[in-house]
Amino acid sequence: MPREFTTIGVVGLGTMGAGIAEVMARNGIKVIGVEVDDAGLARGRGHLQSSVARAVKRGKLTDAEAAELQDRVIFSTSLDDLAAAELVVEAVPEDLQLKRSVFQRLDAICPPETVLATNTSALSVTEISVATARPSRVVGVHFFNPATVMKLAEVVRTVVTDPEVVDDVEALVRRLGKDDVTCGDRAGFIANALLFGYLNHAVAMYEQKYATREDIDTAMKLGCGLPMGPLALLDLIGIDTAYEILDTMYRQSRDRLHAPAPILKQMATAGLLGRKTGRGFYTYEGSDSPVVVDDEQAPGAGGLGRHGDQVREVRRIGVVGSGTMANGIAEVCVKAGYDTVLVARATAKVDAARAAIARSLEKAVQRGKLAEPDRDAALARLHGSVDLAELSDCDLVVEAVVEDVEVKRALFSNFDELCKPGAILATTTSSLPVIECAMATQRPADVVGVHFFNPAPVMKLVEVVRTVKTADDVVATVHAVCAKLGKVAVDCGDRAGFIVNALLFPYLNDAVKMLEAHYATADDIDTAMKRGCGYPMGPFELLDVVGLDVSLAIQRVLYLEFREPGFAPAPLLEHLVTAGYLGRKAGRGFRDYSSR
Ligand SMILES: NC(=O)c1ccc[n+]([C@@H]2O[C@H](COP(=O)([O-])OP(=O)(O)OC[C@H]3O[C@@H](n4cnc5c(N)ncnc54)[C@H](O)[C@@H]3O)[C@@H](O)[C@H]2O)c1
Repeated sequence: MPREFTTIGVVGLGTMGAGIAEVMARNGIKVIGVEVDDAGLARGRGHLQSSVARAVKRGKLTDAEAAELQDRVIFSTSLDDLAAAELVVEAVPEDLQLKRSVFQRLDAICPPETVLATNTSALSVTEISVATARPSRVVGVHFFNPATVMKLAEVVRTVVTDPEVVDDVEALVRRLGKDDVTCGDRAGFIANALLFGYLNHAVAMYEQKYATREDIDTAMKLGCGLPMGPLALLDLIGIDTAYEILDTMYRQSRDRLHAPAPILKQMATAGLLGRKTGRGFYTYEGSDSPVVVDDEQAPGAGGLGRHGDQVREVRRIGVVGSGTMANGIAEVCVKAGYDTVLVARATAKVDAARAAIARSLEKAVQRGKLAEPDRDAALARLHGSVDLAELSDCDLVVEAVVEDVEVKRALFSNFDELCKPGAILATTTSSLPVIECAMATQRPADVVGVHFFNPAPVMKLVEVVRTVKTADDVVATVHAVCAKLGKVAVDCGDRAGFIVNALLFPYLNDAVKMLEAHYATADDIDTAMKRGCGYPMGPFELLDVVGLDVSLAIQRVLYLEFREPGFAPAPLLEHLVTAGYLGRKAGRGFRDYSSR
């Protein structure tokens, strides 16, 4: 039988400590919360009170339950009061010396059987544990932000942690209504090791002005279904904490991708710590407020993210291709009221595309999302042809043929001859340079990338890729068309992976490397990302859906473009592809689907 803790100490009542104290108290556990001084205590108490008040307002707690919960928490500025605790969770700032000194003092104050746990995100639990005379009773218990919401805690055991202590802490985590994954003592454990490379990369994109903060965040939310964009998440985590986590990870991995982006250090030094100080990547209504207010970087406030006012008129759209993307885009266009011509290489392909679009519209009718007359009107707007000359009166041509630069270049040089002057020529490429298509024409200023996501009728995001030659009014027009299509357009430059794939695939590749290193199982990694970070799918689930071959191809393109050693495809990914384990479509990828 695992030990049932009834009194738990929490040291540090900041972003994490206050949440951890609340989670414990919500589950009937007595809490002794210790802060460094009265100001810290007042802030910690304030965190708890406002969070509990929100829960009451949302009907999740009654007034009586809220009062009981608060009665279970004792506040103190003296570590001596923790002598009564059976388990102490330390949540002071991410600083090894500070944590070691807190543990040394706890060791002197607490009885020998008391378990000492650290909530560190990336520091070595082993190094913290050896500051005490009881390393076997020291463990990591890593909660996620916000601790009251996220349904995971990572339990970190060192080589000397007593297995019973691990069992007891795992049982506690489950009693708190959370999933637990247990892992060894490696910087960043499971979730942060995968999350922070991605967050750092997003910061670098922002710092290089590759895209605006809003566009980076919107792209990851709409393109990957993440609950928050990376920059908004960093503001929630705290910029100082994020810097320390990356710094620790870099010192352990020596992977350049973990070297904190320089702007993080500048922001931390300037006190732009995120939500807790009211300003980080975004500006908030006040300290600890989640409400973002406009500042000088806000869209429309001048500077970044603005397009010219001039737009070209778009009435007729041409879509070239007959694959999944071409069909999806043509469907979106006719549904939005555009007269659309789909040009494919053979009559049979045109017919198949029309049938696929008709089927999809029919499904929308059956789901009650489209009225029958609207379906008929949409289909009437769809024209099919095998003749590229049909594109001559199109105002916008969207190319969605095979991902082969020579094929695309030949097509764009055809467009140049066939399309009327002023027509916008767009490519849906996900990995080739848009400028290659542009330079195959005599009118590169009219060429732009429009990267839709699959399935196009469902996914809200479009990445609008401008090359060094693209005209302002072309970008502005594509934005206007996307708005009419019901899509959200984000801007980015002509670089491999654009925003979403460049941020997503290295993270997936890192997950494969972690599996390959036998640090954690695919199930634990998937659970950590879903429950700890709120991702809709774990990395291995997603890789199996996307296809391992597709993922490998994208990762190779990223590696070739950026020459980052850390982007080199994981050997395990290469081997699985060679073996034909391509994911769901092959019945086997990281998991076996043959019997399901
Ligand atoms: N922020 C996150 O998203 C997150 C998530 C999981 C884990 N963590 C980890 O949790 C720990 C705390 O991070 P945070 O984000 O809550 O930091 P924070 O800066 O919000 O809070 C730290 C608190 O500790 C208090 N403190 C400092 N020295 C103290 C001492 N000697 N005794 C008692 N209290 C002291 C500070 O006054 C402050 O209130 C770090 O190790 C961090 O890596 C953070």
